[in-house]
Amino acid sequence: MELTNRINRIQVSPTAVVISAAEQLKAKGVDIADFGPGEPDFPTPAHIKKAAIQAIEENRTKYTPTGGIMPLREAIPAWHKRELGSDYHAKECVVNVGGKHSIFNTISVLIQHGDEVVLPAPYWVSYPDIIKYAGGTPVIVPTRQEDGFSAKAAAIERAITPKTKMVIINSPSNPTGGVVGGKEFDRILAVCQKHNLWLMSDECYSHFVYEPHKPFSIASAKDAKNRLIIIGSMSKTFAMTGWRIGYTLAPEPLIQAIIKVQSQSTSNPTSIAQYAALEAMRGSMETVPPMLAEYAKRRKRIVEGLRAIPGIECEWPGGAFYAFPNVSAHLQGAHPLAKSCTDLAKDLLEKAHVALVPGEAFGAPGFLRLSYATSIERIEEGLRRLEKFFARAEAAA
Ligand SMILES: Cc1ncc(COP(=O)(O)O)c(C=O)c1O
Repeated sequence: MELTNRINRIQVSPTAVVISAAEQLKAKGVDIADFGPGEPDFPTPAHIKKAAIQAIEENRTKYTPTGGIMPLREAIPAWHKRELGSDYHAKECVVNVGGKHSIFNTISVLIQHGDEVVLPAPYWVSYPDIIKYAGGTPVIVPTRQEDGFSAKAAAIERAITPKTKMVIINSPSNPTGGVVGGKEFDRILAVCQKHNLWLMSDECYSHFVYEPHKPFSIASAKDAKNRLIIIGSMSKTFAMTGWRIGYTLAPEPLIQAIIKVQSQSTSNPTSIAQYAALEAMRGSMETVPPMLAEYAKRRKRIVEGLRAIPGIECEWPGGAFYAFPNVSAHLQGAHPLAKSCTDLAKDLLEKAHVALVPGEAFGAPGFLRLSYATSIERIEEGLRRLEKFFARAEAAA
């Protein structure tokens, strides 16, 4: 079938591929220790679900304005100000169908053929494909394990060319959990302002950070707003992945352009989900600390467990809910375990029944991503399987 160049430039999300391979085995009755999905295993908080039920009962089930209901366009900047110290207004806010949609729309209105977008690696799987779909070129800037995978302003500046239009920062990061400190973030913003570039800051994991980090937005910096785009999501903070509500905070002309593209594609995000999100923004935040405390416990268990396996190194993620071990020692030497992490992940799924995502998906060969948005019991079980797999491989070598 002849498809457009546009669609042929991109691939199905590699995380979706892993999830579907694991699901196929599960459907055959195989017990999988599943570290694949990047989604909270907690239910959506009760007060948010109640708001959605009420919206249905009150027949708030019709089209809404394309950019979202006005109370939500007001509540998001108010929440962002309260939680993260920014200063946005409703006309600088648009509601989208999840954070991924916010990123897709923003890139589609700002990036075109010939444009370059600077992207620190390891990166979230979708950024390069979204950039390529828009016709742009991702310019990858590696970060270092020794720096906790935190992006550095100097390395970003070295990657800038006359074609550069945008820099993307995702802190805390999926897949590494790396956090960019406030001072370094200021420097990155200054580089973007100096070169007249857009800084897109993806804050989807803003509220899942571990001591000593605190939730942070670069939008709280002085004079930050003119070249800044904030991407936010209800998915992680409020365990609302299926509701599909995200938002963009940016200068008004950009918001208007996003509303235009939305008006010719998705139209408004689902009305009921918008009322749920309104409750998330206005209601109590007390459901967040217990989730964070549980993630912190799991983080400790999984990082310690991975570090105890010979040949595996693992940094402490500063935020999000992913461990990102370096297994490159097992891919080298006279008897490598596998040719690549993609092959290793396949073997781990088929032979050890452990599902995880190979680092190649994130521009990081030699690494694996394990989501610890799963119970301590399943983490223990998965670690047992990993220990056995690597011990057997070691013995055979
Ligand atoms: C870094 C990052 N940004 C954005 C998203 C998009 O989330 P959603 O579209 O569910 O809001 C995700 C989801 O996994 C993510 O990890």
